[in-house]
Amino acid sequence: MRAPADDAPRFEALFGRPSRVRVRAPGRVNLIGEHTDYNGGFVLPMAIPQQTEVELAPREDRKVRAFSANLGAAGKVDEYELGQEKRGRGWLDYVQGVTYVLREAGLTVGGFDLWLRSDVPLGSGLSSSAALEVALLRGLREAFGLTLDDVRIALLGQKVECDFVGAPVGVMDQMASSLAHGSAALFLDTRSLQFERVPLPAGVEPIVINSGVTHSHSGGDYRVRRAECERAAKLLGVEQLRDLPDQDLPRALALPEPLGRRVRHVLTENARVLATVQALRSGDLAALGPLLYASHASQRDDYEVSVPEIDLLVDLARSEPDVLGARLTGGGFGGSVVMLARTGSGAAAAARIATRYDKQATHRATVLVPQSTPAP
Ligand code: GLA
Repeated sequence: MRAPADDAPRFEALFGRPSRVRVRAPGRVNLIGEHTDYNGGFVLPMAIPQQTEVELAPREDRKVRAFSANLGAAGKVDEYELGQEKRGRGWLDYVQGVTYVLREAGLTVGGFDLWLRSDVPLGSGLSSSAALEVALLRGLREAFGLTLDDVRIALLGQKVECDFVGAPVGVMDQMASSLAHGSAALFLDTRSLQFERVPLPAGVEPIVINSGVTHSHSGGDYRVRRAECERAAKLLGVEQLRDLPDQDLPRALALPEPLGRRVRHVLTENARVLATVQALRSGDLAALGPLLYASHASQRDDYEVSVPEIDLLVDLARSEPDVLGARLTGGGFGGSVVMLARTGSGAAAAARIATRYDKQATHRATVLVPQSTPAP
């Protein structure tokens, strides 16, 4: 989806009646814990202010008629018949995926008219697709009285990606969109799905900057990383890399290249999530920066999911005294950088970093958090 366009028609103008349900779901930024979720490990995402908004009303028949306001006045209502979902229709695949997984799960919905709009930028590593899935599932829960709790909504959203869209993702993004809110981070054990909300200490605030380099998880690189982890786990005789004790790292490093480095990233990243949670709980701000920078180096060198533009943003963060640390967030190969800054300094620091990036890179940076950016 493109950026929201204000000239797009509203629900009532399109469908000739008011909507019955109106819900939202946020995008997410992951503070730390990258590529650990499909290895059964730990993650620490937060909701961001950017959201996907859904309006819908049930129909008498089995048609789904859907409109994305992000396409503006030129957008068209797309439609399909429930039970006839077919992949390959762009953003409509996420809508079709939702009705597909609901049916597979034995949950019945009828046809509906749907209007949606999102200001989570696509391909920015901030889970625009999870926000859409969770918002639509929330809307359908309300409109059709489905018995679904928020964890089940997240699991169904993940199935949309894995079983319909064809992106073999972990569960972090949908759990974050469905369960994170406010300024607390969601400390999640992706194996047990146990979670706890961990507030940021008053002294720090997040910065999120989109590098303008877009990525896609249905593309090959993400899939290759996941397959490498599965192969390493098999060779090491564990079900998932989560199960590998730290003292077995030397054994992992003896595996054929690059498997050892992939394992080292996952083991050290899991430990960094736990250390970050500890530092947040105890208000140990000094510990946070080194953890974020170490996570970035591990993603860049061991997991090899960074790109030069992202490395540049992280380097620019180092010259800001009030920025404690920075790292690539999300699936990688482009997307966004998350930073932690001293409270009150984030907006100005982010604006300076973006300005310097725009001079040095061929892409343009967008500051997404904090939302209002004063002149540097
Ligand atoms: C994407 C996936 C998540 C997770 C991250 C990397 O965002 O959707 O499940 O694997 O990449 O941490």
